Amino acid sequence: MKKVSFAEFGGPDVLQLIDAEEPHAGPGRIRIAVRAAGVNPVDWRIREGQVLGAHPIELPSGVGLDASGVVDEVGEGVEGVEVGDRVFGEGSSTYAEFAVLSAWARMPEGLTFEEAAGYPSVVETALRVIRAVGVQSGQTLLVSGASGGVGSAVLQIARERGITVIGTAGAANQDYLRSLGALATTYDEGWVERVRELGHVDAALDLAGSGVIRELVELTGDAQKVISIADLDAPECGVRFSGVAGSVPEALAEAVGLISRGKLRIPVEKSYTLAEAAAAHIDSQAGHTRGRRVLVV
Ligand SMILES: NC(=O)c1ccc[n+]([C@@H]2O[C@H](COP(=O)([O-])OP(=O)(O)OC[C@H]3O[C@@H](n4cnc5c(N)ncnc54)[C@H](OP(=O)(O)O)[C@@H]3O)[C@@H](O)[C@H]2O)c1
Repeated sequence: MKKVSFAEFGGPDVLQLIDAEEPHAGPGRIRIAVRAAGVNPVDWRIREGQVLGAHPIELPSGVGLDASGVVDEVGEGVEGVEVGDRVFGEGSSTYAEFAVLSAWARMPEGLTFEEAAGYPSVVETALRVIRAVGVQSGQTLLVSGASGGVGSAVLQIARERGITVIGTAGAANQDYLRSLGALATTYDEGWVERVRELGHVDAALDLAGSGVIRELVELTGDAQKVISIADLDAPECGVRFSGVAGSVPEALAEAVGLISRGKLRIPVEKSYTLAEAAAAHIDSQAGHTRGRRVLVV
């Protein structure tokens, strides 16, 4: 099968499309014929060799966590899913023609494979940070970096829970944030004042890692009311960094419910082929993705 792989850490040019052995579904896993793979910033962070987890990456390594596709192998002990089912979920080395998933759900009606590949990681992250920051119905949440994948999910889940959101994004994404029910402002000079004018802030999320932790603490008045997923220096200001994934099956179940009720939609900014994985990484690293980028197999 074809698979995107890298043999050394480095820039996008280390990515190669190679011929590889097909993986197989071990106990508790399924294998899918991949139809689309989500491109997440963590994919290029791992490719660069950034230390992200307790387990070192073994080289050569495949790329990708999120995917959608058609089940073609069901591992021992797995129930409730059959060969031929259309699923989306999380696994490893998903930039490939076949991939093994460790968490999955059946795709809701009406969702394309291309769209479905964009949801798993961003919905898990969005649910985790909304819970961790402790924001309640009737309160206002400030989201710095609101138009990306995680931001798009946070805005829609918060709206569904009766939370008012003030989002920051670039000029080109102001109408997009408003279309998701948020109050919007840009993140350039004077943004703190503009946020104040939009309303009192009860809690804040840093999703962009753009060096705004002090301002977020100032706006909420309490470091415990701020969470970052993108600034490793956040704890220096007493702010929690959230980096350990929660339950992906729970997140997928919630995503299916929200998508089915028309309450959640992550737009696909652009699709690429497997051979264009390096271009997808370059575009993702530029830091201005609306929704998600995906590779289509
Ligand atoms: N710790 C964790 O568990 C975890 C989980 C998921 C993601 N992450 C990290 O969280 C970050 C966001 O992930 P993502 O998937 O949502 O990324 P993404 O889809 O690439 O979105 C990035 C967003 O940041 C916005 N942005 C760029 N510069 C900004 C600035 N100066 N101020 C405010 N916003 C700015 C962009 O908005 P405009 O285009 O409008 O400029 C863009 O929409 C990434 O760094 C990722 O690695 C961490």
